[in-house]
Amino acid sequence: MANKERDYVLGTHDDEIERLGIQHEVWRPRAMAAWRRAKIKAGETVLDIGSGPGYATLDLASMVGDRGHVVAVDRSRRFLDTLDARRRARGLDNVEIIESDLDEVKLGENIADAGWCRWVLAFVMRPRELLTRVASAIKPGGVFISHEYFDYATWRSMPASPVFEEFVQATIRNWRKSGGEPDIGLQVPRWLESWASRSNRRHCSSTPLRRTTSRGNGRRRSWTSASHD
Ligand SMILES: C[S@@+](CC[C@H](N)C(=O)[O-])C[C@H]1O[C@@H](n2cnc3c(N)ncnc32)[C@H](O)[C@@H]1O
Repeated sequence: MANKERDYVLGTHDDEIERLGIQHEVWRPRAMAAWRRAKIKAGETVLDIGSGPGYATLDLASMVGDRGHVVAVDRSRRFLDTLDARRRARGLDNVEIIESDLDEVKLGENIADAGWCRWVLAFVMRPRELLTRVASAIKPGGVFISHEYFDYATWRSMPASPVFEEFVQATIRNWRKSGGEPDIGLQVPRWLESWASRSNRRHCSSTPLRRTTSRGNGRRRSWTSASHD
C-alpha cells in the first residue's frame, strides 16, 4: 500500500506546487544573493531543509556542481517525487532525497558545509530544536541561511482585494491552529544569536527583506510580502 501523503497546512496539491514555483521565481534573486554572500561553492555539500518540490534544491545543485551534493529533506512524498522527476529530467545526479518529518529527523554531525531553510520553521512544531539539529549537522566554519516570514499579513494585493485579504487571514488562523507560527522570522535571529554565543560560532547578520511584484494576466496586480534573511 502506498504511504499516506504527509501534507502541510497549505497543501501538497498541484496548485501549491505551482504557487511555490511562482514564489520561488519572485524570491530567487534574494536566495541566490544570500548563497553568494555565504560563499557556497562548487564541491560543497548543502542541506535543503524542507525542500518542498525542490525549486531551490535544483538551483543549489547547479551551484555546487557535479562534485558537490545537495541533501533535500521533506516529509511530503508528492513534493519529493516532483523534485526527483525534475532532477532526472535535468540529468542531475548530485541530489539526495530524504523523506522525513523535520520534527524527528536525525541529520548527523558535521555532514554538510552549508544549510539552507526557507519558509519551513514557520510550519514545524519544534523549530528551535530543529535549528539546533541543523547546526550540529553543519561542519565548523560552515554556514546556515534561513529565510522566514516575519509579517505574513503583509501578503497583500494592489488593488486591494477583500477576498484575498480574508484568504490570508484564514490561512494565518488555520496555520496557528495546526501548531505553526507564520511570523516565526521575528524569533529566529534571537535564537541564532543565542545558539551562536553558546557554541562559539558567529551569527553574521539578520536583514528584513520586502518584495513587491506584479503578475500579468492582462490586469497588473502587485503583491507584497515580507521575509527575513
Ligand atoms: C512553504 S513550503 C517551502 C518549500 C521550500 N523550502 C521552498 O522554499 O520552496 C514548506 C515546506 O515545509 C515542509 N514541511 C512542513 N512541515 C514539515 C515537517 N514537520 N517535516 C518535514 N517537512 C515539513 C512542507 O512539506 C513544505 O515542503
